[in-house]
Amino acid sequence: MQPIKIALAAFGFTLACSATFAQTAPDPTLVGQGQYLAEAGDCAACHTAPNGKAFAGGLPMASPIGTIYTSNITPDKSAGIGDWSYDDFQRLMRKGVTKQGYVVYPAMPYPSYARLTEPDLKAMYAYFMLGVQPVDQANRANGIPWPLSMRWPLHIWRWFYAPTAKPFVAAAGQGAEIARGAYLVEGLGHCGACHTPRRITLQETALSDADGPSYLSGGAPVDGWPAPSLRNENGGGLAGWSEDDIVAFMKTGRNKHSASFGAMNDVVVDSLQYLSDSDLRSIAAYLKSLPPKNTAAQPYAYDDTATKALLSGDASTRGAQAYVDRCAACHGSDGKGYEGVFPALAGNPILQTDDAVSAIHIILSGGRLPGTKTAPSYFVMGPYADVMTDQNIADVVSYIETSWGNQGKPVTTGQVAAIRKTATPVNP
Ligand code: HEC
Ligand code: HEC
Ligand code: HEC
Repeated sequence: MQPIKIALAAFGFTLACSATFAQTAPDPTLVGQGQYLAEAGDCAACHTAPNGKAFAGGLPMASPIGTIYTSNITPDKSAGIGDWSYDDFQRLMRKGVTKQGYVVYPAMPYPSYARLTEPDLKAMYAYFMLGVQPVDQANRANGIPWPLSMRWPLHIWRWFYAPTAKPFVAAAGQGAEIARGAYLVEGLGHCGACHTPRRITLQETALSDADGPSYLSGGAPVDGWPAPSLRNENGGGLAGWSEDDIVAFMKTGRNKHSASFGAMNDVVVDSLQYLSDSDLRSIAAYLKSLPPKNTAAQPYAYDDTATKALLSGDASTRGAQAYVDRCAACHGSDGKGYEGVFPALAGNPILQTDDAVSAIHIILSGGRLPGTKTAPSYFVMGPYADVMTDQNIADVVSYIETSWGNQGKPVTTGQVAAIRKTATPVNP
């Protein structure tokens, strides 16, 4: 019986500690700040499962080594993190090491959160202890087969690749607005988790612009949707977008060039739409300050050859015919769509690179532009998987990739067939 008593005593002790925190820090401003920061960090995207209780975890995340389930981070004392001290919390956020002493999988973006400042981490801790409802829901065991499920190799991973657990410091000469943007993008926003390429060992090739131009230069597909370059570059980056365009996209999921889809929908809906205008503006200013990695790409320029042909009734290629039959009603013969409703295809960054995965995927599975606080209407594109063959889709994608001045490349039926295997309708 003795060990149990000791364990209970230890438990009682931690309870007492967190109770002390609760008594000394119920500052509503701090909790409110923490909530804003938790939104900016998009904790809910991973820690709240669809139809699940807020922050109770259980969301399955596919990884190259198997399925990982996110943890319960509500202040429940046994199922969640209610018995974690501030020190436990900050160690996890900066180093990925839990209260129990094991290292979490890098699906938890702690290499980015390591950039957070002490006051921000304290506010976030206050929010999770005092502003979130405790939920008694046990964590699910991960579906990772032995020996990959052994946690000790993660210590080695962390040691090699994520050792810089230093809070953000503005670079020399970085103005206040761009520094704030860098802090939000490199830290809380963990934009690089999707938008920066990763090595085979999963770590991002760069965690900030100081690490080199691969930072935010475009990442591997997340659930089948590649995350494009966010650098100020042509050929798929943000060179053609003004700061206002970037702010509109983050706030409403839409602007005159594009509409949000795939994993970016959650980022807009759960996180970016709640940021203040001044924070969104800082992010936009920072992204526009990132010099191009791809220096060879030319600026996009509209070309009206395809538009003139379609308007004069000339749809002589199979791709043009399919576009007229199935797409032009929404995206327009001029490829310009309807701003705020149906995205433009002319000049759309996803159609300016060799990578046609997003275009093929969205035609197979359809899309749903989500509503937000300031743009509550949502718009739907239906899935074409059942009504278009691989050939039909290859034809129409080749057409939109190369019309209206777009700089993409024609695609093959083989590329469509490969994506068809995993694409599931967004609006079943
Ligand atoms: C991209 C997905 C993702 C995001 C975003 C994310 N997490 Fe996590 N988090 C995870 C995963 C996955 C785990 C569990 C990893 C494991 O089991 O090794 C985890 C684990 C944790 C843990 C450890 C819990 C425990 O009991 O061991 C804490 C605390 C945590 N996250 C807090 C946060 C906070 C706070 C935020 C927002 C600032 C956040 N996470 C954002 C994926 C995410
Ligand atoms: C979970 C993965 C993920 C995270 C995290 C993420 N993004 Fe994205 N993002 C995507 C994907 C996938 C796309 C492509 C779909 C689209 O254009 O909406 C995208 C597209 C974008 C676009 C449109 C670019 C274009 O060329 O059309 C912008 C702007 C953007 N993201 C900004 C951000 C910012 C800023 C952050 C961090 C605050 C961020 N993203 C974090 C996945 C992510
Ligand atoms: C009923 C109107 C409608 C029709 C018809 C339609 N689309 Fe769309 N399309 C949309 C909407 C709405 C979105 C935005 C979806 C989202 O945000 O998830 C979209 C998004 C896209 C995108 C991604 C661009 C971006 O920035 O989001 C591509 C590429 C695309 N459509 C191509 C096509 C093609 C090719 C066809 C014909 C085979 C087609 N669409 C038919 C409404 C339509």
